[in-house]
Amino acid sequence: MWNADPGSGEDMVTQGGGAVLEVEGLVVKYGARTAVDGVTFQIGRGEIVGLLGPNGAGKTSTLSVIEGLRIPVAGRVTVNGVDALKDPVGARADLGVQLQSSGFQPELSIEQIVRLYAGLYGVPLTHQGALDALNEIGLEREAGKRFKGLSGGQQQRLSLLIASVHDPLILLLDEPTSGLDPQSRRSLWARIEKSRRDGGSILLTTHSMEEAQAVCDRIVIIDHGRLVTTGSPAELIDRHRSDPRVLELAHGEPTLEDVFIALTGSDFRD
Ligand SMILES: Nc1ncnc2c1ncn2[C@@H]1O[C@H](COP(=O)(O)OP(=O)(O)OP(=O)(O)O)[C@@H](O)[C@H]1O
Ligand SMILES: [Mg+2]
Repeated sequence: MWNADPGSGEDMVTQGGGAVLEVEGLVVKYGARTAVDGVTFQIGRGEIVGLLGPNGAGKTSTLSVIEGLRIPVAGRVTVNGVDALKDPVGARADLGVQLQSSGFQPELSIEQIVRLYAGLYGVPLTHQGALDALNEIGLEREAGKRFKGLSGGQQQRLSLLIASVHDPLILLLDEPTSGLDPQSRRSLWARIEKSRRDGGSILLTTHSMEEAQAVCDRIVIIDHGRLVTTGSPAELIDRHRSDPRVLELAHGEPTLEDVFIALTGSDFRD
């Protein structure tokens, strides 16, 4: 079961013996447009953090800097003590990355893809090892298929398996459960929970407030590229339960979604 309130993020960071990921004063621009505008947050060891924000808030842009795919205009990113901007290769060793949409080598079978990435990450798998890994995500029987031959949910499960095949210290997941059926979503949550039990930290984005409330120890809300607030789901609800905007939105006990909409407004985004 998911823990309802595992405590504040601050506690997790100190108890965990320091942050495994630190993002400080991050600024990302696309031409003249500022997508991320001075965002700062940390993640402790074993902590699951949800980066939430409306469409266009700057979530994917933030992740892409941590992943070393984009150079920020300003700011600092430290992965397990390694400066990710000065030493992106060193930082990548501790990261597992599942992109918002992933494309794998079209000519390879699923088994070959798993073995290829396991090898690249330095944890080579035998034929049986790859089948065991595929079995964990219910794809053993699809081992001979090509990536394109899998359903969307199966593709998603495979890309999460590949992102975590080397047991990274930090998993970065951009909308990992979008488009999944309830069964696949639960199975993915279970994998996320397992990774936490093994001491891994996770930074994930989601538009499902129900999911964020269920799986995240701590939430970081950003909007228009700026940090709005951070805290455990229970803390955020408690902190804002008397806010007139929350009272207006809530039907009975306020939810994280009520707080999120109250803090970020109800307008559509670009
Ligand atoms: N490659 C790009 N070129 C130009 N502008 C971009 C690019 N990528 C993102 N943007 C802009 O930067 C802002 C932040 O986008 P980003 O993709 O980081 O948002 P997001 O929070 O991930 O949104 P979503 O929830 O829709 O995935 C948006 O205004 C977007 O239009
Ligand atoms: Mg995005």
